[in-house]
Amino acid sequence: MFDHPAYDAHEHVLHSSDPETGLRAIVAVHHTGRGPALGGLRMYPYPDADAALTDVLRLARGMTYKNALAELPFGGGKSVLIGDPGRDKTRALFHAMGRAVDALGGRYKVAEDSGIAVPDVDTMGEVTPHVAGTTADGSSDPAPVTAWGVFNGMRAALTSRHGSDSFAGRRVAVQGVGAVGRRLCGHLAEAGAELAVADTRAETAREVAAGLGAEVRAPDAILREPADILAPCAMGAVLNDATIPELRAGIVAGAANNQLEADRHAAMLAERGVLYAPDYAVNAGGVINISHGGPGYDADAALAHAARIHDTLLEIFQRAEREGSTTAAAADRVAETRFTPRGRAPR
Ligand code: NAI
Repeated sequence: MFDHPAYDAHEHVLHSSDPETGLRAIVAVHHTGRGPALGGLRMYPYPDADAALTDVLRLARGMTYKNALAELPFGGGKSVLIGDPGRDKTRALFHAMGRAVDALGGRYKVAEDSGIAVPDVDTMGEVTPHVAGTTADGSSDPAPVTAWGVFNGMRAALTSRHGSDSFAGRRVAVQGVGAVGRRLCGHLAEAGAELAVADTRAETAREVAAGLGAEVRAPDAILREPADILAPCAMGAVLNDATIPELRAGIVAGAANNQLEADRHAAMLAERGVLYAPDYAVNAGGVINISHGGPGYDADAALAHAARIHDTLLEIFQRAEREGSTTAAAADRVAETRFTPRGRAPR
């Protein structure tokens, strides 16, 4: 464990199995300096336990950085459940998972991630209070807050690049107009931006475009759209060796997770003069929303918190410029001013 390449002084790693229900899960608590570790449960048919361990260690560390950057009163953690979400879900399985979370006594709070839906979190909530983003929380649709955070992150990128955050006459290309993308388009249209949109569901793209006066592009063409901003709001790994040379937008800022196929693509973007808003900074509205969940859920407070992504991104862009680093590296450095990595003196 301690020699594992993805191990980064994680506070706790819990392996949990329950032959009765088929549970095979790992919970990783990376850091609780800012508060209990908050992060989603991912369900995936990992080929073996080591693949699951590598994923959960990396994801948990990522949540420490994401939650700190978003100024949440939470540390970072994550959990993985080995299984096929299309086939293996049972209530008994999620009760067993909930008991595994409960065993950590509140050091880890579980939410949804890929393969998991809100009803699954609700089921875990029947056996442990350490759940977030349940139906009862009132915060179960994060998309409006995520979209508002991305919009405010884009304002910071415009200021950094053009000295003004005005969208008037700016052109934005949005890849994916699902829950987040379509709301983002609404804010952009209202602010006076010209829009080009694409979605693999052609009907969805047409419907969103018709309502906002946007142009529709083919899903494979949207990345090459001449635009001020490209907003990936569909899937990960869209910024890679094949796509980066073809980009015609000066700024990339969108909701999708893991937009860079590999870390080195941050440098490739910088070399081409593209200002990249690090995904985990700009899409933090989702986790911000969950952190505001609970009996007194206040959507306006969550939206106001997400608007602060603007200031965080300005700080990241300024730091990258000052230190001659990529924006991705600068985001990590800014996050580390908001928590103390274990084994290092406070800065
Ligand atoms: P969604 O599933 O509602 O929307 C995604 C849309 O992208 C769908 O309409 C889909 O048809 C389309 N799409 C898929 N592949 C495409 C492609 N190759 N080209 C064009 N369109 C394509 O998902 P949602 O909730 O809007 O999330 C979007 C992204 O943002 C995802 O990567 C998600 O992980 C990330 N994210 C979402 C948050 C949220 O609050 N929902 C929070 C943080 C990140």
